[in-house]
Amino acid sequence: MDRNTYREQSRRTWGEMASGWEDRRAWLMRTTQPVSDWLLENLDPQLGQTVLEIACGTGDLGFLVAERLGADGRLVSTDFAAEMVDVARRQSESRGLTNVEHRVLDAERMDLGDDSVDGVLCRFGYMLMADPAAALRETSRVLRDGGRLAFAVWRSPEKNPWSSLPGMTLVQRGHMPVPGPDAPGIFAMADPDRIHEMVTGAGFSEPEVAEIAFDFTFQDFDDMWDMLVRLTGPLADVLNALPEDERAATRDAIQANVASYRSNDGSYCFPASAWCVLAQ
Ligand SMILES: C[S@@+](CC[C@H](N)C(=O)[O-])C[C@H]1O[C@@H](n2cnc3c(N)ncnc32)[C@H](O)[C@@H]1O
Repeated sequence: MDRNTYREQSRRTWGEMASGWEDRRAWLMRTTQPVSDWLLENLDPQLGQTVLEIACGTGDLGFLVAERLGADGRLVSTDFAAEMVDVARRQSESRGLTNVEHRVLDAERMDLGDDSVDGVLCRFGYMLMADPAAALRETSRVLRDGGRLAFAVWRSPEKNPWSSLPGMTLVQRGHMPVPGPDAPGIFAMADPDRIHEMVTGAGFSEPEVAEIAFDFTFQDFDDMWDMLVRLTGPLADVLNALPEDERAATRDAIQANVASYRSNDGSYCFPASAWCVLAQ
């Protein structure tokens, strides 16, 4: 698929995921808290600063930053899917936040001035972009000298069976090709050498890269299935397009492939692992 077709399809897919992400906000924030904690601590936002969140989804992580910026500071909360930005806007209004600006922006070409922000935050966004190296160059352009970029991407499929086993099942059943090593997707920045190359290639100095491991837990398989069909972007797209019989058979096959992560009470607990990166 050429990059422009991918961008358009990806934007549409993530727009369709917005209601699932809104419904599972609390679960998402709880599950990814170790990553959020690392990003917040290393971004180290200060009163009065302007911070940009890229690929913000529901915006919840950025709102924790907004609370630290004070009335004179500003969070620019952005995503390329207008439906996600609508969710984020609703959430910041319901929290009564007055220092948040919501914008629909594609991280690969942002309508923001050079050196216009003091810090940038992006959790699980860059690896999904058609050209993450271009997005990092664009990030470097809008970030002032010495400003911090804190971002998270997923580590390898082996470290993240909550996603790779369902993906593998779709490949086994002929519903998806094996993703190419550099193709955009959840594991596209799993190689730390690639992260290093992209970050320094975008004009940042040596990044600090930390491995953050945590758990993905589901109360039962229905709960996991809900996450798969409403949150996982391209994977959800494939699952939701299957004819009813094959969708049910694929569900059974995924359940069988993740059986070793099931506890006696019917809940599931998977290891998960991310690279958290600080660049300046
Ligand atoms: C996996 S979700 C992560 C959302 C949020 N950062 C979080 O951690 O909860 C990925 C988000 O990236 C956004 N996204 C993907 N490509 C993008 C791009 N090129 N520019 C801006 N946002 C993008 C999607 O719309 C989606 O909201």
